[in-house]
Amino acid sequence: MAEILPADKALEPALALLRAGDVVAIPTETVYGLAGDATAGAAVARIYEAKGRPRFNPLIAHVSDMEMAERIGRFDPLSRRLAETFWPGPLTLVVPLKPDAGIHPLVTAGLDTIALRMPRGFGAKLIAAFGSPLAAPSANTSGRISSTSAEAVAADLGPRIRLVVDDGATPVGLESTILKVEDGKVRLLRPGGITAAEIEAATGMRPERGAGDIEAPGMMLSHYAPVAGMRLSVEDVRPGEALLAFGPERVEGTDAAAIALNLSPSGDLREAATNLFSFMQELDRSGAATIAVEPIPAEGLGEAINDRLARAAAPRDTPGGV
Ligand code: TXA
Ligand code: MG
Repeated sequence: MAEILPADKALEPALALLRAGDVVAIPTETVYGLAGDATAGAAVARIYEAKGRPRFNPLIAHVSDMEMAERIGRFDPLSRRLAETFWPGPLTLVVPLKPDAGIHPLVTAGLDTIALRMPRGFGAKLIAAFGSPLAAPSANTSGRISSTSAEAVAADLGPRIRLVVDDGATPVGLESTILKVEDGKVRLLRPGGITAAEIEAATGMRPERGAGDIEAPGMMLSHYAPVAGMRLSVEDVRPGEALLAFGPERVEGTDAAAIALNLSPSGDLREAATNLFSFMQELDRSGAATIAVEPIPAEGLGEAINDRLARAAAPRDTPGGV
């Protein structure tokens, strides 16, 4: 069973596990990650195993500085500008992989590109001390809700890992935005903690969504799946449903809800993003058969929030739905 250690006591124990080729769950500003040495095949294999993640779904390599990033990936001027603007922070950049970078091929699932991110907080300190990039997907069983607290990680992966580093609730609450620069354009592979408007302000370009095919191999339709069914953008609540509310206005039938949580009573999308995954988990634990979700505006962080909700509501038997 995983031990939970506070971040200020966890650096050495985490380093010892990483050096031994083991994995460790760490806080980042987005969600908790399950980290292992990105240059060691056995460590990366453990990550896939602990999550039950299919090996065709590549991992993000986390770095502590730009020099480490440039040793691994080739940065065109636009990717470099994005890195300089948003790193450290909730942005992942997919760039061409330098073949001699020492990254184990399991990390990229054999692709010739690599997803790179420079996180804030304990993760950044750990990578700098380790001196080498850490592969880290979100610290949750594949296909389930990402964890935004050490307790949620331990409840999900506890029996399969040794250490969870606890630095409280993650401030952003949603995974990083994933971008890929192609033909001088910024492509949005996954909406996340950096908004389209922020990207446009930094580059003068609105990021473009793909044509509908799966570009980040992990962006299958069914994901973030709670046990309960999901009903989105509801106009009423049915008796016995769990209600995920947003904003000051109430939909009809609220009193009939078995349990209700409001992502942000004032209608603040940043607060809603922070609460999203932990509230979904709490409503799921209530045992209600269905979670009804009030409409959430699609602007700003609402784009990523609605993306996660749509995946949580997708049919569970979608092929490859992990
Ligand atoms: O905020 C985050 O990004 C968190 C924290 C821990 O850093 N990590 C995270 O990792 O969300 P994960 O593995 O849950 O999601 C990474 C996504 C997957 O959908 C994967 O398919 C995609 O990144 N990805 C990884 N490498 C890629 C590549 N070379 N090209 C396209 N997509 C890639
Ligand atoms: Mg994930």
